[in-house]
Amino acid sequence: MDLEFWQESWARGGSATSFHRPDVHPFLETYLPPETLHGRRVLVPLCGKTNDLRYLARHARDVVGVEAVERAVEQFFIEHPGKVTRTGDVWRSDNLVILQRDFFDLSRDDVGDVDVVYDRAALVALPPDMRARYVDALDALLGPGARQLVITLEYAPELGAAPFSVSPGEVVRRYGARHEVMHLRGDEQPFHRMVAKYNLKFLREHAFLLVRRPDVA
Ligand SMILES: C[S@@+](CC[C@H](N)C(=O)[O-])C[C@H]1O[C@@H](n2cnc3c(N)ncnc32)[C@H](O)[C@@H]1O
Repeated sequence: MDLEFWQESWARGGSATSFHRPDVHPFLETYLPPETLHGRRVLVPLCGKTNDLRYLARHARDVVGVEAVERAVEQFFIEHPGKVTRTGDVWRSDNLVILQRDFFDLSRDDVGDVDVVYDRAALVALPPDMRARYVDALDALLGPGARQLVITLEYAPELGAAPFSVSPGEVVRRYGARHEVMHLRGDEQPFHRMVAKYNLKFLREHAFLLVRRPDVA
C-alpha cells in the first residue's frame, strides 16, 4: 500500500475512492461535538478530501490535515471553495492547513502542538507492518493528554487490502501502552457497501477514544 497505489486510486476515482463520504461522519459529530473542539488544534492524518475537515475547521481553533496525493487536496479545495493559498506542499484556507506530504516524513515542527487527532480510515488504510510504523509516527507527534477519536472497520473474511479489518483487540494492542483506550461502540453494519460486494459474514464500524498517558515517552 505504497503512495503509488493511492495516486492511482485518486486518478481513477469512482469505486477506487469509495471510502469518501458525502456527509460528515456521524461518529465525529457525536464524539467530538463542537464544545470539545473549541480552542483546540486538531490533526487529521491521511485526510483525503473528507468533509470532516470542514466540520473540524468550523469548531476548532486550527486544523492540520495530512494527505500525500495532490489530486485529493485539489479536489477538496474545489469542493470547498474559499480563499486558498498554496506555498509548496502547504495549502491554507483560514484556520485549515493541508500538508501535502507523506505522513511518515512529518516531524513535530511540521504539525505543531496537537490537542486532538481524528482518524477515520487512516489506521485501516494501512497493512499490518505499516500500521505499526503509523502508530509510532503518530505517537511521536503527540504530547501527554492528547485525545484521539479512532474509527475502524472490522469484518470477516479478511480481504488483505484497504480498508483492512482492524479489531478492537488490535487497537488496544497497538495503542494501549501509551494511551488510555475506550471502546465507544461497535455497530453491526449489514448494509455497508462492502458486505454485498465481498460477501462478508459481518462488518462492524468501531469508534475509540484514546487519551495519551502522561507517564510514557
Ligand atoms: C482510506 S483513505 C481515507 C481518507 C479520509 N480519512 C476519509 O475518511 O475519507 C486514506 C487516505 O490516505 C492517503 N494516504 C495514504 N498513505 C499516505 C501517507 N503515507 N501519507 C499521507 N497520506 C496518505 C491516501 O491518499 C488516502 O486519501
